[in-house]
Amino acid sequence: MKSRRLFLLAALSTLLILFPALMPARAPAQSASTPKPFDLIAWNGGQFVYGVDYYPEAWDESQWEKDAEMMQAAGINFVRMAEFAWAKMEPTEGRYDFAWLDGALKVLNAHGIKAVLGTPSASPPAWLMAKYPDIAAMNDQGVRYRYGSRRNYCMNNPHFLAAVQGIVTAMAEHYKNHPGVLGWQIDNELGGPDCYDSLCQAAFQKWCRTKYGSLDAVNKAWGTIFWGHTYSAWSQIPLPWNTLYGVHNPSLELDYHRYFSDATRDFLVMQADILRRIAPGKAITHNEMGMFDNIDYSHLNTALDFVAWDNYPMIDHNLTRNFTHYEDSGLGHDLMRGSKNQQSFVVMEEEGGLPGWNTFWGHQAPPEMYRLWAYQAIAHGADGVCYFRWRTSRYGTEQYWQGVLDQDSYPNARYGIVKQTGDEVKRLKGVLAGTQPVSQVALLVSPDARWAFHIQPLVNGFDYNEQLHRYYDSLRRHGANVDVVFPQGDLSSYKIVIAPSLFVFTPEVVRELTDFADGGGALVLTYRSGVKDEHNVFTDETLPGPLAKLAGVAIHDYDPQIDPASQQQEIVMTGGQRYPAKVWFDILTPATAEALATYGKGYYTGSAAVTRNNMGKGSVYYVGTEPDSPAFYDGLLAGILQGAGIAPGPTPPEGVEIATREGSGRTVLFLLNYTASKQSVGVGQGYRDALSGASTSGSAELPEFGVKVLVK
Ligand code: GAL
Repeated sequence: MKSRRLFLLAALSTLLILFPALMPARAPAQSASTPKPFDLIAWNGGQFVYGVDYYPEAWDESQWEKDAEMMQAAGINFVRMAEFAWAKMEPTEGRYDFAWLDGALKVLNAHGIKAVLGTPSASPPAWLMAKYPDIAAMNDQGVRYRYGSRRNYCMNNPHFLAAVQGIVTAMAEHYKNHPGVLGWQIDNELGGPDCYDSLCQAAFQKWCRTKYGSLDAVNKAWGTIFWGHTYSAWSQIPLPWNTLYGVHNPSLELDYHRYFSDATRDFLVMQADILRRIAPGKAITHNEMGMFDNIDYSHLNTALDFVAWDNYPMIDHNLTRNFTHYEDSGLGHDLMRGSKNQQSFVVMEEEGGLPGWNTFWGHQAPPEMYRLWAYQAIAHGADGVCYFRWRTSRYGTEQYWQGVLDQDSYPNARYGIVKQTGDEVKRLKGVLAGTQPVSQVALLVSPDARWAFHIQPLVNGFDYNEQLHRYYDSLRRHGANVDVVFPQGDLSSYKIVIAPSLFVFTPEVVRELTDFADGGGALVLTYRSGVKDEHNVFTDETLPGPLAKLAGVAIHDYDPQIDPASQQQEIVMTGGQRYPAKVWFDILTPATAEALATYGKGYYTGSAAVTRNNMGKGSVYYVGTEPDSPAFYDGLLAGILQGAGIAPGPTPPEGVEIATREGSGRTVLFLLNYTASKQSVGVGQGYRDALSGASTSGSAELPEFGVKVLVK
C-alpha cells in the first residue's frame, strides 16, 4: 500500500470486528479538556455535507448558473474552491481580486450551495517565484527547483511566508462575514517537498536546540560517538541530504522526520492563526492523504476543527482493476478518524471518475462504485463526502483525471449515480445523525515506527502498512469495526489492541500497553517490537526490550529473510496446521509464555514463532514473523475475539464489507458489496432498510456493487 501511494506520489510529483459486536455505544475517548467534537452536519446548516470540488475560474462565467443548477439537482450542497487560484486572486503583488469568486459564490449560494475556500499556498504564482526564485525548494543534491508544477516551495522562505500571510489575510478579510463561506481548507495535501537549503538547515538546527537545549544532549541522544560525528556547534548539524554511501545517523534522521512534521504543522498554524483571528467562527480543515506518513496527522490535526482527506481507491489498489480491495480505503478512513480522537470527518476529494495525469493512469470503475465509496466513507464515520472534481479539466496535467462530468458537461452515468446518492444521503440524515463507528478493537499506528522503518527498512519485502493490513483486513473479514489509535491515545475503552512492529518505543507507550494488558485486555505484538528507544537508539535489553516482560519471551537471535527463494520458512501451529512465513523470523525463547506455533525449517526448527502470555488479567500475543496466509490471521483473531467476549456479528461473504455506526439508541448496519455478483448476508431479525423502510427478515440481498443501509 505504501509503495502504491508512493508510486502515485512519485508519478504525480515528477511530472506527483466484529461487526462491532453489538456492544453498547461508547463515547470517543476524551479527557475532560477535549473540546466537544465538531458537528459537521450542524455546521452545514443541518445537512449531510455533500459536495464537489469546483474550479469556476477555469470555465466561462456563462457556465456557472448551469453548473449550480445541475449540482443542486444532484443534491450537492457544498463545494470546495480556490485552492489553486492564487494567481487569479492576486494577479500582481499585493493587488487582490475576489470579484470572480464573489460572483461564483453568489451563483452557488443562490442554489443552496455553500463553500469551503482553500488557501492557495500549494501553488505560488509565477510572478512571485520569478521575483524570489529562492522560494523554490532545493533538492538533496543542493540544486534548487525552478518554476512549475506545485508543492514546490521552501516552507521556511521569508518571502514565501510573507506572501502567504498576505493572501490569507486578504481572503480572511474579504470573506469573514460571508454567510456562504463555511470555512477554510489550508493549503492542499501538505507533506513535502523536503527542502535542503540553508534556511531549512537552520530551521532544523533551531528545532534540535529547542528540543535538546545543549549540544551535549544531542550528541548523547544520537550517539554521535559513532564514526566520530560529534557536533561542537549547532551550525554543524546537517540535514539528511545526499552523502557518500547515502547514509546518515538513524537518530538524526528520525528527528529530521519529526522536525519536518512539526514544521509543516507550524506552516499550517501560521495560516490558521490569521484565519481564526480575522474570521472567527469559520471552521478550519486540511485535505490529508490517509496512509501517507510524512506527517504525524495526530499532531497536525490538533490545530484543525475537523479532519478531511482525499480518497482515491483506484490508485491505492495496486493499480489493478479489482474493486474488492476495500480495506485500503477502509484503513485510510479509520486512520483519519483516529487522527482526531475518532471524530467524524469529511472526504474532501472522493474519487469521482477515472484517475489520470499526463503519464499516469488509474482504472475506470463501474458508475455504481462512486456510490459505494461514498457509503463506505459514511460507514467509517464520514459526515461529508465531496467528489473530486465537478468536471474534468480542459487544461493542464489533469485532462485525464475525470470529474463527475466530463468536459462536455453531459449528464453521464456518474452524474446519475452521484444524483441518486445525493438524494439518498438527504433521506438518511435522520438515521445517521448522532451515530458514529464504535469499536472494541484498536490498531496502534506509530508515526515514529513508520519513520524509523523508512530509515532502516529491514529487508526487501517488509512493509509496515502491509503489517497493519494483515491484521486490519482479517478483523474486517470477521465483520469488526476497527479504531486506529496513535501512541498517545487512550486504550482503556478497548478489549483488543494490536500493535504491529512497534519498533520505536517510549516509556509512556510501554506503560500504556502494560496497563492495558494488566487490566484485562488482549494485546498483540509482532516482530521487530521494542527494539529502539525514542532516539532511534538500539536497546541494550534482551529483545523485545521493555516489552519482554509483557510478551513473556526472550529473543536471543533472529533471521531476516534476505533471499525469499533460498530462505523459505513456515510455522507449525500446535494443532499441526502449517502456514508459510516471510520477512523476519524472531527466534523466541518463552519465559512465561506458551508457544502457539514453532518454526518448521532451518537451524531453529522447533523454536517458538508465535506465543501467548498471561499478563495481569489479560493476555499478550507475540507473533515473531509475518505468516503469509490470511487463514493464520483469521484463526488467531477468531480466538482472540472470542476470548475477549466479543460476540460475532454477521460474517461478510468475500468482497462484501460490513461496518456499523451506533448512537442515539440506533445501530446502523452498512452492507457494501464490492463484487460484480449478487450477494446475500445473514443479518438476523430486527433491522429495517433505512432507504426503503422494508423490514429485513434473516438475510439481506445485495445487488452487484450494491449497498444496504439497515437500522435498528
Ligand atoms: C489530489 C489533489 C488534487 C488533484 C487530485 C487528482 O491529490 O489534492 O488537487 O490533483 O489529486 O490528481
